Amino acid sequence: MDTVLSGIRSTGHLHLGNYFGALRNFVRIQDSYRCFFFIADLHSLTTHPHPSDFHAGVKTILAEYLAAGLDPEKSAIYIQSDVPEISELYVLLNMLAYVGELERTVTFKEKVRQNPNNVNAGLLTYPVLMASDILVHRAQWVPVGKDQEQHLELARVFARRFNNMYGAEVFPEPRNMTFPGGAVKVPGLDGTGKMGKSNGNGIYLYDDEKTITKKVMKAVTDSGPTEPDSPMPEVIENLFTLLKLVSTPDTVEYFTGKWNDCSIRYGDLKKQLAKDICNVTLPIKERIDAIYNDDAYLSKVVASGRERARASAAATLAEVRKAVGFKPF
Ligand code: TRP
Repeated sequence: MDTVLSGIRSTGHLHLGNYFGALRNFVRIQDSYRCFFFIADLHSLTTHPHPSDFHAGVKTILAEYLAAGLDPEKSAIYIQSDVPEISELYVLLNMLAYVGELERTVTFKEKVRQNPNNVNAGLLTYPVLMASDILVHRAQWVPVGKDQEQHLELARVFARRFNNMYGAEVFPEPRNMTFPGGAVKVPGLDGTGKMGKSNGNGIYLYDDEKTITKKVMKAVTDSGPTEPDSPMPEVIENLFTLLKLVSTPDTVEYFTGKWNDCSIRYGDLKKQLAKDICNVTLPIKERIDAIYNDDAYLSKVVASGRERARASAAATLAEVRKAVGFKPF
């Protein structure tokens, strides 16, 4: 059985974009692959979160992923910093990562531009840590979006370089995993493209009914179609994209007809959209609240994830150490 791995950022909350873009697919593949899902808390230290907020951020994301359907019985769900083998592999891979190739990473250059006062070495070697996450379980498949493709490419480069340098086939080259139906791009409600936490246009899985309704009713629209079958402007298209994700085909067809014959009332469309979003998210929200407050359950999940991840990682590190030439005295 092939191994799938994904790392999850430990800051913020999950929004519909995360859910339909990635998470829903992770939930579906848990029966068919050996899955590792972890919260990348070490990675988040590049931006120096305050010690008093750090744990709560990890806990929030963990509860939200579990509530949305990641199943600790099926998958290893763990915290990155609980697996010291990742940090050990990171040290070893740093010896064969070149500063030049790391400096050329688009995400690094972007961070330098955004935050010239905090260009720490952890930021530069972010892709090395990410490669360690992946290679420590010798994962074949890593589902990532466009923004992480270059990091995944570097993981392949380091895997290959390690195998060549030490003349051992320790690491497979991890590949991006795509899903049937392709990448779902979830638009924001402000007409500016993708839903994202930095854009402030998101609907979160933990939002309550009132909040969701308010956000949807405020979504940007235009003055309405004036001719039958006119092309849709992006802001309206976005509402229909969301509708297609959460509503029945009948509902989508109904409002498409209304658009086409110019009788559409955006208020009705939004009311329906808010209701159908709530149908998807409110059951998840209920579970988030329950799981977040169940410390005994969370601690059990994390312990079992840690155990599974460490067993897998230790087996890899034994081979890695042998290949590099470490020998017990
Ligand atoms: N860098 C990824 C992100 O920002 C998170 C991540 C860390 C990751 N390690 C990973 C993703 C390993 C996939 C595999 O979203």
